[in-house]
Amino acid sequence: MPQRTVYLETFGCQMNELDSELVAGSLRALGYAFTTDASAADVVLYNTCSVREQAEQKVWSRLGELKARKAAHPELVVGVLGCLAERDGVDLIKRMPVVDVMCGPGELDKLPTLLDNAVRTRESIIAGGTIEPDGRPRIRSASQVALQGNTSRRSATLAAAEDSLELLDLSRSVSPTDHGGTAYVRITRGCNKFCTYCVVPFTRGAEIHRPPDHIIDECKRLADAGVIEVTLLGQTVNHYRFEHGAAVTTNGITQPQKGRAFTGAHRADPLRGAGVTTFADLLARIHDEVPAIKRLRFVTSYPRDFGDDVLQVIRDHPRICRYLHVPAQSGSDRMLGVMNRGYEAAEYLDFLDRARAFLDQPELGRPLMISGDFIVGFPSETDEDFRATVALVERARYKNAFIFKYSPRPGTVAYDRMTDDVPEETKRRRNNELLAVQARISDEIAREQVGRTFDIMIEGVSKQQKKRAGASHGQIRKSNAVMLTVGGKDPTHDDASSNGACGDGCSHVHGAPVDTSHISHTDGPSNEPVQLSGRTDGDLIVFIDAPAHDATALIGRILPVRVDRAERLALHASFV
Ligand code: SAH
Ligand code: SF4
Ligand code: F3S
Repeated sequence: MPQRTVYLETFGCQMNELDSELVAGSLRALGYAFTTDASAADVVLYNTCSVREQAEQKVWSRLGELKARKAAHPELVVGVLGCLAERDGVDLIKRMPVVDVMCGPGELDKLPTLLDNAVRTRESIIAGGTIEPDGRPRIRSASQVALQGNTSRRSATLAAAEDSLELLDLSRSVSPTDHGGTAYVRITRGCNKFCTYCVVPFTRGAEIHRPPDHIIDECKRLADAGVIEVTLLGQTVNHYRFEHGAAVTTNGITQPQKGRAFTGAHRADPLRGAGVTTFADLLARIHDEVPAIKRLRFVTSYPRDFGDDVLQVIRDHPRICRYLHVPAQSGSDRMLGVMNRGYEAAEYLDFLDRARAFLDQPELGRPLMISGDFIVGFPSETDEDFRATVALVERARYKNAFIFKYSPRPGTVAYDRMTDDVPEETKRRRNNELLAVQARISDEIAREQVGRTFDIMIEGVSKQQKKRAGASHGQIRKSNAVMLTVGGKDPTHDDASSNGACGDGCSHVHGAPVDTSHISHTDGPSNEPVQLSGRTDGDLIVFIDAPAHDATALIGRILPVRVDRAERLALHASFV
């Protein structure tokens, strides 16, 4: 078979980013090559998100754009992976006949085989000349393949199914050029929370915790390949809990009971150490057993069951970052109830106070930075409910917050049992008001950093620099045509309104992980500095100018800087 070229574009959260990386690794091992130019690809894959309607729309429009090309080149193979594939199932293929392969997130280990079949089948169809006058292969529907699994929440077969998925993570190919110093590592799959608005438990299935030895081994292999920053991934990372002796640990067997009191979570898990690895244990083990990892992060934290044991471990292990992403969703107890979040606003704020008491050390260059998510316009939200959210945001003092207008998702409790009764205009107004409140707070927090010294990890060329370089090359690259910066944004929130420096709406294309093409050594005045962007361990974005001849070598390193000025979340600094 001649070498096939794949274009793989990723939408949605970090979990999808990681899935794409794993899928790309397994396809490379089969001889596929990757391109960042969709028009040059034999196989076009979209790894999709379904969390809000807007996220799905992007995929629909990409698929729409492919119709004409597919008609002209029926040998093109189109695959839809990820959460939209899982949620929409075969309806997706009916609506979009351009799709050949569909594969939910719980079946990605089988994708190489599916794709190989699709490519081969298509070849034989084309070779056999059985093409309809409109250019479509005649046996088209027989060659379309679709795999889903999570929607049924396969409890009986869970262990076996998840074991094979585990192989995908275990077989991760790690090469020194792949990561640019930073990488994601999954600790938990799926989610059992069933917040009433959320599609994730349906698309990603039941909560499964990976064995700690697998996680640590993966971190070691990444560190050996030059990774110095690892972000642990899970929908509710602090619920990580692995019972040794069980082949696979599911939430159903081992999770703290749903009714467990929030305040009770101050205590360490009573079984900690006795055959159970808790989240606190896992953090400490990775920190101690993989010292080459200079920064250990984790997302996303759930506001309940975040024990003091975890806060202590973060405080006592210097390479664990002082950053928590801990979505509140609302400040109104009534809304939190209908959202099925399982905590009240006062408990949430108590947790933030507790976290700050343990971890906020600005005098050591380590202020605790917290970010959050909110949904405005959830069914029945009144102005009074919204005012409670504003009050919580004022109290919480997030470094940034992601604010979403409620989007009804088929299959969820809110979709089935609640009316989307807050008018769009009201949603928009609340969205803008909350953004404005948060923008002021973000600005204040940024200003507090001026004069402080931080270690920052240099992640890549700043967007502004890219625009400049693009302009000087007579073109501005589309933001989605390159991997922007390593970990340079939070892709969970790529359609959020955020006052933060992410949420630019870009998707990621699998290609070179660190794009240095905007550092020009030949064009323009050679001594013109290049603007790089980096992050503090508290996830504050810092811009810094570096001499052009040094810039590439600095990417992926951790260096001390002093903050000279602040522009909202963007801090401008110089090397010390
Ligand atoms: N597991 C994470 C969230 C994952 S989804 C947590 O529980 O915090 C990322 C964010 O998308 C959520 O925090 C929520 O704010 C938003 N979101 C999820 N479903 C949504 C919906 N139906 N409409 C609007 N926003 C939604
Ligand atoms: Fe969705 Fe809630 Fe699970 Fe987060 S915790 S993924 S919001 S169901
Ligand atoms: Fe799925 Fe992540 Fe989106 S879990 S629905 S890709 S936010």
